[in-house]
Amino acid sequence: MSILFSPLTIRSITFRNRIAVSPMCMYSSQDGFATDWHLVHLGSRAVGGASLVIAEATAIAPEGRITPHDLGIWKDEHMEGLQRITKFITEQGAVPGIQLAHAGRKASHHRPWDGGAAITPDQENGWQTVAPSAQPFAEGEPVPHELTLQEIEEFKDAYEAAAKRSLEAGFKVIEIHAAHGYLLHEFYSPISNQRTDKYGGSFQNRIRLLLEVTERVRNVWPENLPLFVRISATDWTEGGWTGDDSVALSKELKALGVDLIDCSTGGNVPHASIPVAPGYQVPYAEQVKRQADILTGAVGMITEARQAEEIVANGQADMVLLARELLRDPYFPMHAALELGDEHPWPPQYERAKPRG
Ligand SMILES: Cc1cc2nc3c(=O)[nH]c(=O)nc-3n(C[C@H](O)[C@H](O)[C@H](O)COP(=O)(O)O)c2cc1C
Repeated sequence: MSILFSPLTIRSITFRNRIAVSPMCMYSSQDGFATDWHLVHLGSRAVGGASLVIAEATAIAPEGRITPHDLGIWKDEHMEGLQRITKFITEQGAVPGIQLAHAGRKASHHRPWDGGAAITPDQENGWQTVAPSAQPFAEGEPVPHELTLQEIEEFKDAYEAAAKRSLEAGFKVIEIHAAHGYLLHEFYSPISNQRTDKYGGSFQNRIRLLLEVTERVRNVWPENLPLFVRISATDWTEGGWTGDDSVALSKELKALGVDLIDCSTGGNVPHASIPVAPGYQVPYAEQVKRQADILTGAVGMITEARQAEEIVANGQADMVLLARELLRDPYFPMHAALELGDEHPWPPQYERAKPRG
């Protein structure tokens, strides 16, 4: 049996293999509501054999959306549509996960296919963005409002409420989105945090908000369910966040009951020079796994069955998360199993199409 198709148990949840659907914004909601698009998109990837299907960055507050079309979980009415999705994913033998997110200063933009530009608060569908400091992501972008201590408390409350709704909606894994230049990353990266209170300055102060959010989520998220955190393990920038910082952070997250660190990178600096190549972020998953002694997920330019197999077999990560390859081929896990000679079952409805011998 290949390692890629060996099960992994975290707390009470057994993942049937090591392939997860990386969270991907679909920008297909109105007022945060899930639609048929989400059911079919996420559902197909569960049918395709992934063990964990993580729903896209789901906004814990309306102003935390990247675009007005993001999926949301800031009100109880959102749960019904999500329940339909988690039920279907579960019926396919996959585990439904949700990435809880707040886009911070990168919120209030048009969808990529509508040009992706910032929408200023005075424009239709735009709103005032927030951040640790009143510093825009890029020159010419709107200046975010610096969160007050009171607003930080409200943010934590919203995160906790979103975690409770996630449970009611049937999710079995929460991933806290603390990567890609969104709010929690903006706090821990020295590049975007100029605060002088207890949330800025020292390493310990900058990671404080992520730790507090993690504690709040862990407190309401059942003991028997896994909690993941996605980080940007490096800012790819002189003077920015580093792999060593990620190790130190991951140790603290582990102590708070986080089970797996999903190691992405970048997103907090507009023109960072990033050596994009197959598996280019895997070394960070390996570093965090070895030095913080915690399960990790590797993501980024993982597109081949054997490549994925090696990452897990070499002990560089415990899971691989695939994004674009799973858009190209929702059945990647079924195809990968065939390639690796593994007896991964196909859905009975599709069994007659399975190549033999
Ligand atoms: C369409 C699309 C939407 C994405 N949305 C999210 C998201 O909601 N949350 C997130 O953490 N990453 C998001 N990403 C990044 C992916 O999860 C992944 O980290 C990245 O694409 C690298 O993996 P890949 O090379 O397998 O595509 C998105 C990527 C794509 C292509």
